[in-house]
Amino acid sequence: MKVFLYIGMIFIGTACSSDKDQYTPIPENPKLTFDIPSNFPKPTYDISKNPPTEKGFELGKKLFFDGKLASDGVVSCGFCHIQDFAFTHHTHIVSHGVDGALGTRNAQPLHNLAFMKEFTWDGAVAHLDLQPIVPITAEVEMNETFSNIIKKLEKEPTYVQLFSEAFKDQKINTDNILKALSQFVVMMISSNSKYDKIERNEGSVFTEEEALGFDLFKNKCASCHQGTLFTDQSYRNNGLPLDTIYNDKGRIRVTGLDEDRLKFKVPTLRNIELTFPYMHDGRFKTLENVLDHYSDGIKDSETLDPIFKKENGTLGIPMTPLEKQQIIAFLKTLTDDDFITDDRFSEF
Ligand code: HEC
Ligand code: HEC
Repeated sequence: MKVFLYIGMIFIGTACSSDKDQYTPIPENPKLTFDIPSNFPKPTYDISKNPPTEKGFELGKKLFFDGKLASDGVVSCGFCHIQDFAFTHHTHIVSHGVDGALGTRNAQPLHNLAFMKEFTWDGAVAHLDLQPIVPITAEVEMNETFSNIIKKLEKEPTYVQLFSEAFKDQKINTDNILKALSQFVVMMISSNSKYDKIERNEGSVFTEEEALGFDLFKNKCASCHQGTLFTDQSYRNNGLPLDTIYNDKGRIRVTGLDEDRLKFKVPTLRNIELTFPYMHDGRFKTLENVLDHYSDGIKDSETLDPIFKKENGTLGIPMTPLEKQQIIAFLKTLTDDDFITDDRFSEF
């Protein structure tokens, strides 16, 4: 009996030590610091519920640039959201998905998402974690299912490893895929433009043209493109004639309310120099085109924002060619070169 016990103990002992040799401990997975720039408001995203960690971020980044999230193995998030252009789909008027399928809207820039209340041009998505479901499952975007994606990822040791390091439950599932993607995109903060450096007194100064443009901007544009995020996050009709191809009526698709017809989310203007073409359907190629719209192209309709209706019956925001040039010079101070070249967010 004694002998038996003894042998048993040796057996357990060796089993343990050989297990130890093979066991690769889960590496430390430290939280990343999520710095809120001093000139920014409080984030809307509850960081404490899904704090970005080293491994979660790495996993989210890998997923973001991986075509396996799409049915054709090609169309990754990064295919439509390209860093050089503040994560928009450069030159594409509306986005292109699998097999060249055309979407109906211009890809939005991805930055400062932690500070946004709702997502997409019409606010159809109420939480950042849920946003990827739309492109992943949309036929004209990635046209894939989560169960298929999970099957593909389970076959890859790197993913198995990363999921187990990034999340306590170690599982490859929909929830963790979404959380990892959020940990990646939520870190994308663009806050180092010339404008920011001036706002934070970091030694930069506006040129005379930019300063004049800023004054005009505060007067004519900032009621909607408000504050340091350059959006009040409301939905407005800025007088674009209804497009004839997509017939996109905006916010009414979400609320069903007539009063929301032709309203779209006021977009941020950060990095606007890089995110052409402009508007929800990419109808304008240049900032000059945009300003010509505001001065001369506003179309009246029941939901047109009252800001554009003048007492004398005319429509739009009057601006001279010189004033337009000054406003554009100001808008270009919102370009953040540090952000578009930040290696943390680069594919390679
Ligand atoms: C086929 C091109 C395409 C792909 C692929 C794509 N997106 Fe997008 N993305 C868009 C378009 C277009 C919009 C605007 C959608 C709308 O308004 O309905 C958008 C909007 C967004 C927004 C909302 C931004 C805001 O300010 O409201 C986020 C976040 C986003 N995408 C993240 C992702 C992630 C993460 C993936 C990968 C899972 C992804 N996208 C894949 C084209 C794409
Ligand atoms: C009444 C609110 C309002 C005012 C005032 C306003 N905008 Fe806009 N702006 C919007 C909305 C809403 C959109 C998005 C419309 C769409 O795509 O359907 C937009 C879109 C834009 C875009 C395109 C952004 C992109 O990502 O494609 C630019 C650039 C722009 N505005 C600049 C300006 C400038 C400059 C002024 C002042 C001369 C101005 N806006 C005044 C509400 C406003």
